[in-house]
Amino acid sequence: RRVSVLMGGMSAEREVSLASGRNVAEALRGLGHDVRCIDAGPDLLAIVGDLQAHRPDVVFNAMHGRFGEDGSIQGVLDWMGIAYTHSGVRASATAMDKDAARTVFMAAGLPVAGGLVMTPAQLEPADPMPAPYVVKPLNEGSSVGVEIILPGSNRRATVAAEWTFGGQVLVEEYIPGRELTVGVLEDRALTVTDITPTGGGPGFYDYQAKYASGGSRHELPARIHPDAFEQARELALAAHRALGCRGASRTDFRYDDSAGPDAPGRLVILETNTQPGMTPTSLLPEQAAACGMDYATLCQWMIDHATC
Ligand code: DAL
Ligand code: MG
Repeated sequence: RRVSVLMGGMSAEREVSLASGRNVAEALRGLGHDVRCIDAGPDLLAIVGDLQAHRPDVVFNAMHGRFGEDGSIQGVLDWMGIAYTHSGVRASATAMDKDAARTVFMAAGLPVAGGLVMTPAQLEPADPMPAPYVVKPLNEGSSVGVEIILPGSNRRATVAAEWTFGGQVLVEEYIPGRELTVGVLEDRALTVTDITPTGGGPGFYDYQAKYASGGSRHELPARIHPDAFEQARELALAAHRALGCRGASRTDFRYDDSAGPDAPGRLVILETNTQPGMTPTSLLPEQAAACGMDYATLCQWMIDHATC
């Protein structure tokens, strides 16, 4: 088939997307598809022109973050009548907006951390909730801009003063414990990965831990309480459905297991990624492989499930 791989884009995750896109293109070529790569820059007319020239049967959307994962490019592809991988406009836009996604999750009865949305100016003078808490941009991925504010720290005022991620800030309760993730392929939850950041970073799964080789250790299937394991899989599927996702997604969790190994602990949904990373260190391909689906087969599954 003729496949255009859309990658790059203009978000803070541009480099991640280029790595995802190169991997995907290579795998699809290996399967015998006629693959063209489109490095999506700031000129939308150039992207549309490339798509009109290639006339693909399907677009593999390998973009992450704003414009690529938030419904913008999905709307363009709908307009052009070209089938594309992953979620459509509504699910993409909702999942990318952390406040909107929280609202959908809460309405569906899914667990989220306590949180508030405010302006950077409102954050500056005082702690909005007892520390530790987490400060996040509403619409970035890969932990770009995420900071954990510790008790007694003077970071809050600096973060607020230097905020470059738009007019709003999401402040969320810090959930101690582990970071888990579950990939979903349409109606099937894959396995649970337990992610431990290594190295000397700030001790959470930040950008560096995500993409530096050896930046984190992935244990799959996660060795956690069996009830929590099954609950994480059910919640990932429920989150995918509540948002109206298509194809593949990946839902990230915090898991507080401080009550000890015999208690199921507390699971909280952090977010659902509608365009999960496809780099060599990425979590979804790793889970698919653990479930018997190699990288190329996963890419083929994605284009087989493309629609518009
Ligand atoms: N936002 C990155 C690409 C991920 O979730 O995998
Ligand atoms: Mg993300």
